[in-house]
Amino acid sequence: RGPDYLSPTGQPTGAPQATRAQGGPYLTNAQGVRLPDTDHSLKAGSRGPVLLRDHHLREKITHFDHERIPERVVHARGAAAHGIFRAYGTASNITKAAFLAEGVETPVFVRFSTVLGSRGSADTVRDTRGFATKFYTSEGVFDLVGNNIPVFFIQDAIKFPDVIHAGKPHPDREIPQAQSAHDTFWDFVSLHTEATHHTMWNMSDRGIPRSFRTMEGFGVHTFRLVAADGGTALVKFHWKPKAGVHSLVWEEAQLISGIDPDFHRRDLADAIESGIFPEWEFGVQVFPDTPEQTFEGIDLLDPTKIVPEELAPVQPIGSMALTANPVNFFAETEQVAFHVGHLVPGIDVTDDPLLAGRLFSYLDTQITRLGGPNFAQLPINRPHNQTNDMLRDGMHQTAVHTGVAPYRPNSLDGGCPFTAGAAEGGYVEVPVPVQGARVREAPPSFDDHFSQPRMFWLSMSPVERDHIVGAYTFELSKVTETAIRERVLRVLAEIDAELCRQVAEGLGLPAPTGSPAQVRPSPALSQVGRTWPTTGR
Ligand code: HEM
Repeated sequence: RGPDYLSPTGQPTGAPQATRAQGGPYLTNAQGVRLPDTDHSLKAGSRGPVLLRDHHLREKITHFDHERIPERVVHARGAAAHGIFRAYGTASNITKAAFLAEGVETPVFVRFSTVLGSRGSADTVRDTRGFATKFYTSEGVFDLVGNNIPVFFIQDAIKFPDVIHAGKPHPDREIPQAQSAHDTFWDFVSLHTEATHHTMWNMSDRGIPRSFRTMEGFGVHTFRLVAADGGTALVKFHWKPKAGVHSLVWEEAQLISGIDPDFHRRDLADAIESGIFPEWEFGVQVFPDTPEQTFEGIDLLDPTKIVPEELAPVQPIGSMALTANPVNFFAETEQVAFHVGHLVPGIDVTDDPLLAGRLFSYLDTQITRLGGPNFAQLPINRPHNQTNDMLRDGMHQTAVHTGVAPYRPNSLDGGCPFTAGAAEGGYVEVPVPVQGARVREAPPSFDDHFSQPRMFWLSMSPVERDHIVGAYTFELSKVTETAIRERVLRVLAEIDAELCRQVAEGLGLPAPTGSPAQVRPSPALSQVGRTWPTTGR
């Protein structure tokens, strides 16, 4: 498989030019002055006090004191690789995006992550995994910032701080790390039952992947593609690993957390180093762009819902191979900045209220995490095509801009750049009509919280069901408040009486009786039956 992705010189493609920032035969300080010694502080006599005037000592230690930047507020622990994306051209009828035209190869950088643990937490915990891809296209950077689970906990970004507060370690003892085994997580997901679907995927084998190389990836939200003739289609993005979907079993995951907390990180780097390049097929589910933005009764703006592949098959539009490890973890994996707003002509967003909040959040957090507004100039974030913006100055500005002040039109600057309409490759938002009263409320379709988790459960094999029951039982056994456990059991009763009974038995609690709350199932789900094409079998 490897040679396809090698350059003519045999080097893996996709990796950045490793620029050696420093060199020369002599050790110097940061100002280039040669140093005679970097092991002894300047002292008043060999046994005397260290002198404050020792600038080298202070420069060296001060720099060290500032080596760390804040970890990501979520997805802090990750591992990444460079690669190549190759388009089949099969999406050219629905999108004008240049990188999706037949045969086009685009360098990519992909970062996989856990969500809740800190930078130093273990890899094989039960959690959602991030799957974020940066495409350095000829028309600018496109980021697909997805997860390995196709749905999300909440339907509106305004709850994101709340779900993350509930899932992160408790503020007093800062435990547990990266596990859903605690009171606040289960309190949240049983009070906000829209989280039931995502939680059930977490409790399934999908929550403990065998390897980053064997994970599916999902864009989760519905996006809008724009064709060259202006026609639009709604799509959901999918990554399918060519090596298949594989998971650990819980006992393996627990053992590996102790034996090798870097298990996934090591696995990815070792595979790439030995020429076993992980590969994925990239595909889309395509839906007509109707004013309702529903498909077979499923609300496409609800990020807690999937569209079963039986109703809309995933159509392959390209493939990706990861071919090179980062040369510097900090410069690449740590400093990379993904953003759902990094879009290219031919790909637009929809009004999914979760996506709307994300469009604000990523740039905002990165201004803090990466120390100011100029992180797009970092090598890993820089577009591979030419940029010509009017952004100037600010913290960590490294460009030396020449000419007059940037505004346009500008009668003083002979080189005033042109603007581009759609015909010249400009990014023009789809003019979707907007209407409605200003309200803080969700549509009625967002009230159906249980029909899709039920479909997921019913599609599982007996072994997979055992694993789900075991996971709920283990995680809930760590919850100290009986009222929370009982509330989760009532949620499970909404999904399936047998699931609820088995978990209740494992916890030594009575299974709730009585009729479940009324829910509104999506009409299309009755057609789907008991199979679930995207499970890990
Ligand atoms: C980071 C995915 C929802 C805020 C990330 C990352 C991924 C991701 C993969 C890690 C990126 C990397 O590797 O650097 C998702 C998915 C979501 C979702 C699939 C739902 C479908 C949200 C929401 C918000 C949010 C609703 C806020 C309103 C953040 C922030 C970071 C992050 C602040 C840290 C970014 C950084 O420091 O660079 N998300 N996320 N996410 N996400 Fe999300």
